[in-house]
Order: sequence, then structure tokens, then C-alpha cells
Amino acid sequence: MIPKETVDQIIETARVEEVVGDYVNLKKRGANLLGLCPFHNEKTPSFTVSPAKGIYKCFGCGKAGGSVNFIMDHEHFTYPEALKFLANKYNIELEEEELTADQIQQANEKESLFIISQFASEFFQDQLINTDQGKAIGLSYFKERGFREDIIEKFKLGYSPDEWDAFTKTALAKGYRLDYLEKTGLSIVKGEKHFDRFKGRVIFPIQNISGRVIGFGGRTLLADKKTAKYLNSPESEIYHKSNVLYGLNHAKKRIIEQDVCFLVEGYTDVISFHQSGVENVVSSSGTSLTVEQIRLIKRYSQNITILFDGDAAGIKAAFRGIDMILEEGMNVKVLAFPDGEDPDSYAKKHSTSELIEFLSSNAFDFIRFKTNLLLEETGDDPIKRAGLIKEIVGSIALIPDPIARSVYLQECSNLLKIDEQALLSELNKVRRDKLSKKAQKSNFHSEIPLPSEEFAPIEEEENKINKQKFSPTEFQEKDIIRTLIKFGNHTITITVDDTLPKEQQEFLEVQIAEYIVHEVEKDGLDFTLALMQKIYDIFKVAVEKEQVVEERGLISHTDKQISEFVIESLMEKYSLSVNWVEKHNILTIHEEDILDKSIHKGICSWRLNKVQLMIEERQIKLKENPEEYETILLEINRLLEAKKALALELGRIVLN
Ligand code: CTP
Ligand code: MN
Repeated sequence: MIPKETVDQIIETARVEEVVGDYVNLKKRGANLLGLCPFHNEKTPSFTVSPAKGIYKCFGCGKAGGSVNFIMDHEHFTYPEALKFLANKYNIELEEEELTADQIQQANEKESLFIISQFASEFFQDQLINTDQGKAIGLSYFKERGFREDIIEKFKLGYSPDEWDAFTKTALAKGYRLDYLEKTGLSIVKGEKHFDRFKGRVIFPIQNISGRVIGFGGRTLLADKKTAKYLNSPESEIYHKSNVLYGLNHAKKRIIEQDVCFLVEGYTDVISFHQSGVENVVSSSGTSLTVEQIRLIKRYSQNITILFDGDAAGIKAAFRGIDMILEEGMNVKVLAFPDGEDPDSYAKKHSTSELIEFLSSNAFDFIRFKTNLLLEETGDDPIKRAGLIKEIVGSIALIPDPIARSVYLQECSNLLKIDEQALLSELNKVRRDKLSKKAQKSNFHSEIPLPSEEFAPIEEEENKINKQKFSPTEFQEKDIIRTLIKFGNHTITITVDDTLPKEQQEFLEVQIAEYIVHEVEKDGLDFTLALMQKIYDIFKVAVEKEQVVEERGLISHTDKQISEFVIESLMEKYSLSVNWVEKHNILTIHEEDILDKSIHKGICSWRLNKVQLMIEERQIKLKENPEEYETILLEINRLLEAKKALALELGRIVLN
């Protein structure tokens, strides 16, 4: 039997969009994700996944459920098998044996802590609303701060009476165990005596994603500087600070809808924003932002805007947060409030529309923010300026997506008025150091079957590479493989048949690797460069198995030539043909469209060249083997046909 808490853990961890996303190519549509149903054959997607609800439903065939159901259906597993499968996927340890008494006790303990927290939350709420002291002190405080009643109720705000053990006494009388009260931190036990942690404070209950109360923040009402403004629940079995974002349970739907999450500092900031109608907001509640918290947000949106008070401490904290968010591959903007204002005070002083307008026109992308700020600090001092450039390039280097990196690099170059090339070499240096560190550290062995080591030695190619003497074909081949390496896992929307008039055109979403393999396999051509063929084969095998080739696997590949070429490609500015990029400023046009066309064009040109070479080969053969005249001529004719078709196709690809 799998313990209930483990089942809960599996269900909570195995996000439906991730589980389904392993099988179905999902594309964002409003609050949901949409893809082609894996359970029935369809051409237009009707398979819908709701990350907020944790479910999927196909409007074509009617199949629906959560992540466990999906695995059961897709893999034809029983319920426990599906759970085991998911536990394995997420590295959750499964204990199959009968539970020991200790384990039962522990499971019960966790549940007890939840129940006690719920009880306490209700107690504090009742105190606030229904007792004279609560009303006179707590409620009037909230009212004075301008909190509406519906908002006080929504956030379950409360009041802990100004007596030593008002709560603890009541809880004990109800039969709650003192050791559990102590573990939640609600009661402090000193020998025979016990006290309420939150005595005389107003209470902000902290809820997990599903809305269960897991901890509390208590604010003092005294202006005394010696009293800590907030006391918070300690870590417990149900409250892990680094995994919690205050307000996320109320915000998650809106974050998906608005496709951005505002990150503020305090409880009151979250609450005031809600009162103003801005609900896509969470707070890390005074602790510095953690990776776990960022990943929580990432489930709902790729975009975070950090809001903070204009003081220096907040700014430094924001810097650290920015880098962590970038490293997760997310987009980050920053908004500094005017001096003396914080999100709470600003929201109180302005109307909803003013607030929304302020948020949208004052959020700067992190480069602009960081650059401006640091420029103020450094002035004209050249040494400080060099440090500043390093600092900013260091942030850009954290971004996993090469296209995004290029875009930011360009912006940084504009802002700092520094040659992009100089920034690029600094960036490459940082990335190279990182990559080699990463390759050293990881014991990663590719799960993708790699072509055997018994390949013919390819010294010749290596020499060619070193001497940089390529035929056009070889140039093109390297271009194609670089695109595979850098963008293979990205998806693009391609036009299924571009000979059709615009209104009849069908679009298909594919992985770039899949697209390239498909194009290359069309007429079964081999790469001229053995090294390119090797790398291509890795991707081809992966595509056939519907797997993804991971960058780190390639970086630390046992074949040194492969890993070197990969690292070199990843360091490069653009993967697309340099000529081509120079002619058409890649960064100003919509990237996806460019990628589609340039890949298509690159492969077509390569195929055309290959076909031309094959024709030339045949023509020589023709002279040498007159007895095979007929067969060879037939081949030549076939190749000429192919050449004509390719030339036509190439002519149609308009790059602009
Ligand atoms: N915080 C804390 N302990 C403190 C001070 C702050 O845990 N002694 C945390 C709280 O989560 C608080 C957040 O840091 O919400 C931000 O602090 P601050 O801006 O000082 O508090 P506000 O929430 O803005 O409270 P108020 O508006 O009442 O000043
Ligand atoms: Mn504040």
C-alpha cells in the first residue's frame, strides 16, 4: 500500500501539464493548454489541459481526468502502477511495505497539524469579528488601514487576544494535543507553562496552493521599535517557508489569465492589491526569494514582475531575485515604487485604473532597470563601469534561451553604448566558464542511444574545420547541425503547404529537431561531413523515439569532437547562416517565422547542392562505365527532376 501522504505528494507534484506535456505538444490558449488528443485521431486540437484545475479533457472524444488518470489511460496502467510511474518520474521515494506504527503516527501527525492550523485560523477570525477586544483593537486596526470586510474575510484575517494563553487554553480544552500545538508554533511551551505565540497581534494566515492554512504571520499593533513588527510560524511538517508564496492560492487563476505574476514583499501588499482588483500577486513574505518559489510561479506563467519599495535594501534583494528568475528561463521585469511608497500605500492612494496604468507603464525589463540603476552609481568612473558591464553580462549569461540572450545583449549594447561584439565576447567567456563547470560537475550519461564509437576516424574533417575551408555544402551542413543543437527543442509553427493560397493554408506545430529530421530524410541524403552526420544521427534517433536531446548530454558527450562542436555552436552568436543574419536583421523580425523559413531554406539549398554533386558524380560515372549508360541516365534524369523541384521550392521561400 502506498501511504496516503505519498499519494498526495505524487498528485501535488505531478502537474498535469507536465505529465501530459511529455506526450502531447501543448500550446497555451488563454488560461488553458491545447494539443492534439493522444487518445483519438484528430487534425485540429481539441485536447485541453487546465493547469489551474489540474485536469485535462478532450472535447473530441470526451476523455478526461488528472495526471494519474492520464498515465493509466495512456500507459494502460492500474492505479498503483500509474502512481509508481509518476513517483519514479519525480524522484519521489515510495514505501511499499506495510506502514510501521511510527509511519502511521507521522502521517497522522501531519494531518493533525493541518487540523490544528485550521482550528486556530477560525479561532482568530472569530476573535476579530465577534469579541469586544477583537473588534476594538484588531478590527479597528484593519479598518483604519482601509481593508474592506470582504477582503478581511477573503484572507481570513484574525486577532489573537492580548492574554498569555487565550488560544492555547481554548485549544487544549477542545482536546488538541499540546505537542502538536507546539509543533505548529502556535503555542510556546516553557516547562509547565505555555503561551500563545501571537498574543495581542493581528493575524495573517498563510495558505498553501490548495488553500489549506499551514502557518501564520502576526503583526504587532505597537509602534514600539523594540518589538518585531511580524512574528511568523516556525518551519513545521506542513509549513516549509521556501516552498510557499503568500497569496498564491488566490492568485493562480489570475496569473494564468494575465500571464504575469506580480511579486511583492509583504502580506499587506498582496491584500491591498486584491482590494484594488489586481489579483495576480504573491509575496515571498520577507524571506529572500527561493528557486522553489520561482518554480511555483512558473507553473502558471513565464513572466514575473518584481515590485519593491524604492529603498536600497529592496534593490539589492531584487538583483538576486532577477538572476534566479532568469536562470529558470523566465522573463523578469522590475518596478520600483516612488520613494516612501510601497505597493500597499500606492494601491490605497490611487484608483484601480491608476494602479493598473502605473504597473503597466513603470515595469522595466531587467536590463534597462539594472543598467540605469548601476549607471547612477558608477557615473563616469571607468573601472566601476567595467564592473557594471560584467555584472549585467553575468545576468544575461544566465538566460537559457539563445534568442533571448541575443535580444538582451543588443539592448544592453544600445543602453551602454558599447559595441555588441565586445559584450558578446564577454558573454561567451562567462558562458564558456559555466559550460565547462557544468560539464565537469554532471555525471550525466545520455539516455539517448548514441551512435557507436566505431566510426571511421574523421581527422580529415577536423583538418578542414580547423583550416576553415569548406565547400558550400559543408557550410550548409554545419549550419543545419548548429540549428539542431541550439534550437532543436524549440517548437515552431510551419506552413504545411506553402503552394496553397494564404486563406487555405494549414499550420502545424512541430519541434525543430523533428522538422529538420523530416526535411533531411525526405530524399535520404547523407551529410558529407562525418562529424555532422554523427550529431545528426543523435537527433534522428531521438526524434524517432520521441525523445529530446538534452544540451548537457551533448556538452558532456564522450566523443570529444561532438562535445567541442556543440560547445562551439552554443557559444556562437547565431546559429543561422551569418550572411543571412546580416542581410536580414534577425532580432527585429518575428523569430519563429524566420526560423521556419531559414531552416527550410538552409535545408533546401543543401539538398540542391547535394543533388548537383550527385549529378556530377553520375556524369563522370557515365563516361567511365558506358555499359551502364541506361541505368545511369535514368538516375540522372531523376536527379534533374529533383533539382528542378528544389529550385522551385527555394524560389518560393521569400525571406523578409
Ligand atoms: N516581515 C517579517 N518580520 C518582520 C518584518 C517583515 O516576517 N519583522 C515580513 C512580512 O512577511 C512582511 C514582509 O516581510 O509582510 C514585508 O515587510 P514590511 O514591508 O515591513 O511589512 P508590510 O507587510 O508592508 O506591513 P505593513 O504594511 O503593516 O508595514
Ligand atoms: Mn511593506
